[in-house]
Amino acid sequence: MTHERSRIRIMLLAAARPNFMKVAPLYKVLLADDSFELALVHTGQHYDDNMSGTFLRELGLPDPNHHLEVGSGSHAQQTADVMKRLEPVLISEKPAALIVVGDVNSTLAGALTAAKLHIPVVHAEAGLRSFDRSMPEEINRIATDSVSDLLLITEESARTNLLHEGKTPDQIAFVGNLMIDSLRVQLARALASNVRERLGITEAHIGLVTLHRPSNVDDPRQLDEILSALEVISGELPLYWPVHPRTRSRLNTETAPLPSSIHLLDPLGYSDFLYLQANCAAVLTDSGGIQEESTVLGVPCLTLRDNTERPVTVESGTNYLAGTSAHRILETWRESRSHPKPGTIPPLWDGQAAARSHAAIKQFLLTRERLGQRRS
Ligand code: UD1
Repeated sequence: MTHERSRIRIMLLAAARPNFMKVAPLYKVLLADDSFELALVHTGQHYDDNMSGTFLRELGLPDPNHHLEVGSGSHAQQTADVMKRLEPVLISEKPAALIVVGDVNSTLAGALTAAKLHIPVVHAEAGLRSFDRSMPEEINRIATDSVSDLLLITEESARTNLLHEGKTPDQIAFVGNLMIDSLRVQLARALASNVRERLGITEAHIGLVTLHRPSNVDDPRQLDEILSALEVISGELPLYWPVHPRTRSRLNTETAPLPSSIHLLDPLGYSDFLYLQANCAAVLTDSGGIQEESTVLGVPCLTLRDNTERPVTVESGTNYLAGTSAHRILETWRESRSHPKPGTIPPLWDGQAAARSHAAIKQFLLTRERLGQRRS
């Protein structure tokens, strides 16, 4: 008689737009392994259909098993609400591990809640550091990593940072970039998108803009500084700008009218955005993920920040740190036009990050099991 081996229960946490592209490949690879029983939790940090639902559908993610519906709020409110609502779920489900991704408030809230219940935490996209603690994401990254047990990293700089912060080599696995797994899977479909026609884009060459960092959009003077650079650039290259909800409220209330060469759009779905990114002459952004995607697509990216937690995109990719003053942005713009970086794809950004993550997670859990540690 054979005894069916009990399955290892693991939980995967998703929260906000940039999380879904990292969660989807991991979800699929873990689901295919029948030694695991998998549950998906959505905290509801992003809740508009065009910031959440459309991404779940396009990426083939199912309805989450648990929806915490936390919505918007101050940092403390949002973080606390995720913790309060996740705790009973973790207590009743008793997963052998909680997997969190990226650096949003829900990532930190999930990691803290699990760690305090002695549930091992796996952090995907660990170890990235901007060394700028005024960014909420930097606090989330540092605090999440400090309570995480297995750290899945996307680039070598992350290993250096984590070792420096006292993590041990055996806690770190260099798996590559989950977001790039999604990009590689979805690109063919995305390139068939008719978004140009739907949006009435007639120009052959366009630039793509995204902007949502609080430090860039919440201070009207800073936002004006960036807008004045965008205005000049749009005279050479028409700009299309899908506007994040945070930024939309600022543009409506606090800035002068924009020139007609800057086209404001509603947030776009994943395929439509990938299409435009792959087919544009340049991206101007303060996003983390877009710095990575543009490097893989070989498209020049001007990052409108003074630092980046993703140095490999500047050192070997197509990313330029353009700062946040109009003068520096325009200087970098001219440099990127006159001396475009050839750009190479960083190591292990090859579409196999989920497979390597799966192997690392399995080894981690089986080792814990052998050592007689926590098991569902
Ligand atoms: C969050 C993340 C950021 C990530 C970004 C991607 C943190 C600290 N920040 O920033 O790292 O790059 O998501 O978008 O976790 N809103 C809506 N609909 C939504 C979601 C938000 O209208 O579905 C509006 C609300 O007015 C909200 C504001 O956007 O107050 C900001 O949303 P929030 O989730 O607080 O932060 P993001 O700026 O999106």
